[in-house]
Amino acid sequence: MTQPIIAPHTGDTPLKKTRRSTPGDPFSAAEHAHYESLRTTDIALEGDPDLPPDGAQRWSTWADTPPMQRGPEPLPDWVITATGAVDHELGVLKTGKEADVHLIERAIPHANDSTLMASKRYRTSDHSLFHRSNDYTVARGVKKSREKRALERKSRFGRELAAGRWANAEFAALCLCYEEGIAVPYPVQVHGRELIMEYIGDERQCAPRLADLAMTPERAEALWEQVDDNVELLAHTGYAHGDLSAYNIVVDENDDILFVDLPQIVDVYANPKGFEFLNRDIDNIGRWFISKGLDPEAVEECRARVMAVV
Ligand SMILES: Nc1ncnc2c1ncn2[C@@H]1O[C@H](COP(=O)(O)OP(=O)(O)OP(=O)(O)O)[C@@H](O)[C@H]1O
Ligand SMILES: [Mg+2]
Repeated sequence: MTQPIIAPHTGDTPLKKTRRSTPGDPFSAAEHAHYESLRTTDIALEGDPDLPPDGAQRWSTWADTPPMQRGPEPLPDWVITATGAVDHELGVLKTGKEADVHLIERAIPHANDSTLMASKRYRTSDHSLFHRSNDYTVARGVKKSREKRALERKSRFGRELAAGRWANAEFAALCLCYEEGIAVPYPVQVHGRELIMEYIGDERQCAPRLADLAMTPERAEALWEQVDDNVELLAHTGYAHGDLSAYNIVVDENDDILFVDLPQIVDVYANPKGFEFLNRDIDNIGRWFISKGLDPEAVEECRARVMAVV
C-alpha cells in the first residue's frame, strides 16, 4: 500500500517566512507550495529498505530470536539463518482449537535457497476454543510477579503472555524430545505466540495424521511398534505426551511416525497426576490401534514395560 510521504525540509533552499495565506494557518503560501511539491503518493515501495523484497510478508524472524529460543545445535542444514532471508506465507495447513498451523517458506532472495516450515500460531484466549485443565500445569510456576498478576487479571498483556507461554512450553517440549531422540519435528524457533518447526509433508500437502490413514492389521502393527518405542523413550525421560491420539501423530512418506502437539507434555514425577496421564495416553492410543486390528496383548505389554521404568 502506498502512503503519502511528507519529506523533511533539507535546508538547501531556506524557506522564507512570508505572510500567512489564511488567518490562523501556521504556514505561508510559499511553504504550502513547497510542501505540496514534495508530496507524493506513488513512492515505489519495493525500494523501501524496511519492506522485504520478492513479495514476502516479512523479514526472517531468526535474527530477532534470542539464542535460547532457537532450536538445538547442531542446526539441521535446511535451517536458514541468513539475516537477509524473508518469510513467505503460503497458507493455513490446519486450524486447531487453540492454534493455527501455517505453511511458510523462508528464502534468501536472489539465491536458490529456501525451506518450507510449519508455523504454529497460538491464539489469545479471546479466540481460543479450548481451555486446558489446570491438571496439566500444576507443577509449572510463574515466578515474575508482574506476569503472574497479568495472567491472573487476564488483561490483554496477560492473554498475550498466556498464548506465548503455550508456544514456549511446546517449543521446550519439542527441544527436549528432539534431543532425547524422540520422533518429533525439529523445533526451529519460538517468537512470541509463534512456534516455527520442521514441516512434515511436501509442496502438495502436509503429511497425514495417523487417523487419516487407511490401515491393515500389518500396517497397524508396524506403526504401533514405533508409537510404543517413542512412548517408552518419553517415559524414560520422565514425561508423558498428555494428549496422545491418532490426531496428534503424523506419518511421513516413509511411514515413519512423529508426535506433534506437545504443549501439555506432563512431567510424570512432578505432576501429582503424572502416572494417570501416562496411563491414559497408552489407553487412548492403544484402543485406537486395537480397533485397527492390533493384538490387545501388545498394548498391555507396552504398559507393563513403561510403568516399570517410571
Ligand atoms: N510440523 C508439522 N508438519 C506438518 N503438519 C503439521 C505439523 N504440525 C502440525 N501439523 C498438522 O496440524 C494439525 C494441528 O496441529 P496441532 O495438533 O499441533 O495443533 P492444535 O491447535 O493443538 O490442533 P488440535 O486442536 O486439532 O489438536 C496436526 O494434526 C497436523 O495435521
Ligand atoms: Mg492437535
